[in-house]
Amino acid sequence: MNIKINSNFKNIKETYLFSEISQRVKRYSEANPGKDIIRLGIGDVTLPLPSVVTSAMKIAAGEMGEQKTFRGYPPESGYPFLKSAVQSHYQRYGVSLDISEIFISDGAKSDLGNLVDILGSNKVIIPDPVYPVYVDSNLMNGNNISLISGSKENGFLPMPDQITGDAAEPAVIYICSPNNPTGAAYNSEQLAKWVEYALGTGSLIIYDSAYEAFITQDDLPHSIYEIKGAYECAVEVCSFSKFAGFTGVRCGWTIVPQKLTADDGTSLNKMWLRRQSTKFNGVSYPVQAAAEAALTPEGMKQCLSNIEYYRRNAALIGEVLDSKGIFYTGGRNSPYIWLECPDKMGSWEFFDMLLNKAQIVGTPGEGFGEAGEGYFRITSFGTYENTVRACDRLREIL
Ligand code: MLT
Repeated sequence: MNIKINSNFKNIKETYLFSEISQRVKRYSEANPGKDIIRLGIGDVTLPLPSVVTSAMKIAAGEMGEQKTFRGYPPESGYPFLKSAVQSHYQRYGVSLDISEIFISDGAKSDLGNLVDILGSNKVIIPDPVYPVYVDSNLMNGNNISLISGSKENGFLPMPDQITGDAAEPAVIYICSPNNPTGAAYNSEQLAKWVEYALGTGSLIIYDSAYEAFITQDDLPHSIYEIKGAYECAVEVCSFSKFAGFTGVRCGWTIVPQKLTADDGTSLNKMWLRRQSTKFNGVSYPVQAAAEAALTPEGMKQCLSNIEYYRRNAALIGEVLDSKGIFYTGGRNSPYIWLECPDKMGSWEFFDMLLNKAQIVGTPGEGFGEAGEGYFRITSFGTYENTVRACDRLREIL
């Protein structure tokens, strides 16, 4: 062929982080058949879907098999019943949204990767370490990225005063809170500083709140729109994956406020609608019905009970690290525990050591960015039994 490719792909790593990990684990298990591997790497849930969710899904699937209730293409931005449920969900946090600002999708990852489609060539600010999708999707688009480092000193919560270069330059800023991978979460005061910075510079914040349901502390906002001024500078992306166990079902949402306009006055809401209606055909009816069920009072109760189960796992892992005097963040308002590798080990070195000596799979911090070197992420999304066994092994080898 003589076609040209998007050469920006040459700027990203050949393999996506979690694909690389699964390849390494596959090689290890082929070389060591019969070894009992405990997977606490990718943040994939293990509990089955709440019963209220599966009931709604079954009823909706049945409706699709009847002439009278069959539905074809869903509306590209979501059925009004689910958008209303998301709207009411935000009201719990004191956030008022217009229905037209809510876009249902097949998950936060897709939206976070696709948002670059509607943005031009801007300065892009991304915290490091970070969920690889923000960096990779910007590199794929040929954007230059400025990283701002999280560290032990700033509690893995970088702040606007770390921004270098022209401080007045508008930027697209990515924030994930509670953070993936570090589990650290911004409080209202810290988030207000980011909003103030964005408003002062004409910047856009892309706020990933996929882990908000894990927040336990009252002073931590669940949505950026709890902060004054955020409607004028932020898009928020959230997901049913971690909150309702939808990693294999796929549903999420993005909020694009009507007030967001670019430098030439173009509405970002209109652009996102245009993008989605061209490239996306909506989420299936049974999935949206299931998602709506997750947001009912009974659905919330069942989902939060699952989250409580993962919190117990996180507490167990935290206890082992505390007993060994190992520094970590997360675990409390997040399903992730981000620990400092003992004995100044590199994060891939620690990955290999854990796999070989304890048959535990985690995620090397370096995979989330340079500032993650020397750190390691363990997820609490495993089963309780596996987490207990992993903790026993950790106690022995750390
Ligand atoms: C993770 O492990 O970081 C997440 O599961 C990835 C994702 O949500 O796509």
